[in-house]
Amino acid sequence: MSAEIHIAGLEKRFATASGDVLAVADVSLDVAAGEFVAVVGASGCGKSTLLRILAGFEEPSGGEVTVAGAPISGPGPDRGVVFQDYGLFPWLTVRENVAYGPSRRGMSRAAARATADAHLETVGLTRFAQRFPGELSGGMQQRVAIARVLANDPAVMLMDEPFGALDALTRSDLQVQLRRIQRSEGRTVVFITHSIEEAVYLADRVVVMTGGASHGVPGHIRAVVPVPLGDDRDVTAPAFNALKREISELVHERTAAVA
Ligand SMILES: Nc1ncnc2c1ncn2[C@@H]1O[C@H](COP(=O)(O)OP(=O)(O)OP(=O)(O)O)[C@@H](O)[C@H]1O
Ligand SMILES: [Mg+2]
Repeated sequence: MSAEIHIAGLEKRFATASGDVLAVADVSLDVAAGEFVAVVGASGCGKSTLLRILAGFEEPSGGEVTVAGAPISGPGPDRGVVFQDYGLFPWLTVRENVAYGPSRRGMSRAAARATADAHLETVGLTRFAQRFPGELSGGMQQRVAIARVLANDPAVMLMDEPFGALDALTRSDLQVQLRRIQRSEGRTVVFITHSIEEAVYLADRVVVMTGGASHGVPGHIRAVVPVPLGDDRDVTAPAFNALKREISELVHERTAAVA
C-alpha cells in the first residue's frame, strides 16, 4: 500500500516568547505513491517541522497538505513515523511492540502475533521476538521500530533521522534493508537525514531545504534533485559522487552567503 503526498504553499508559524517565528514558508512538493524522497538541509531549516505536519503532530499555519487526496487531520495509522530515538515500549517484548498497532486496530491476538512475526522476519529479528527493547543494541531497536511501523501497513512512512544515532556499519546495514523493503513493498517514504550520502543512496529524489530562523529567512525548498542511479547503487561510483557534490553545494550555498 502506498499513497501520494501533495504539499502546496505550506507555511508554519510558531508563537514564541519573543514573538512569532515563521519556521517554514512557501513549501510545495508532490511525492508520488511508492516514491522515496529524502530531505536534507542545515539544522533549523524546517525538516522536522515539515515531517511533523505530515505526521499530523503539528497543524500548518497556511497552505495545503494532503495524503492520498485527503487533508491531514491528526496522526493516523496510514502514516507510520520513525524517529531517531526508537520510541519502543520498554515494558513490552519485541513481538508485543510490533503487534501493538495491529491489536489496537482490532486484529485478533493470534493474527497480530503472526503479523508481528512476519515483520520481525523482514528486519531479521525473528530470534529476538521474546526479548525486551532494553536488551537489544541501538541498531536492533531501530529495526524493531521499523518493523512496528511496517506492521501497521502504512501508506506513507515518515522517518526523521532514523539512523542518526547508529554506528556506520549498522547504519549501512539498515540502509540496505530499508531500500530492499521499500522497493519490494512499494511504500511512499519521506526520509530526513543529515547524511547526503545516505540521501543519494536511498532516495528517488533529494529535497534540499535551506534558510531557517537563524538565517533571517523562513525554511524553504532550495532544490529538488532527481537521483537517476537505478537500484544497484555504488557509493564509490563517479556518478554517485557527482550527485553528492551537487547536493552538498546546494546545502551549503545559502549558509555560506549569509556567514
Ligand atoms: N514548537 C516550536 N516552537 C517554536 N519554534 C519551533 C518549534 N519547533 C520548531 N521551531 C523552530 O522552527 C525552525 C525549524 O525547526 P526544525 O526542528 O523543523 O528544524 P530541522 O531542520 O529539523 O533541524 P535539525 O536538523 O536540527 O533537526 C527552527 O527555527 C526551530 O527553532
Ligand atoms: Mg530535525
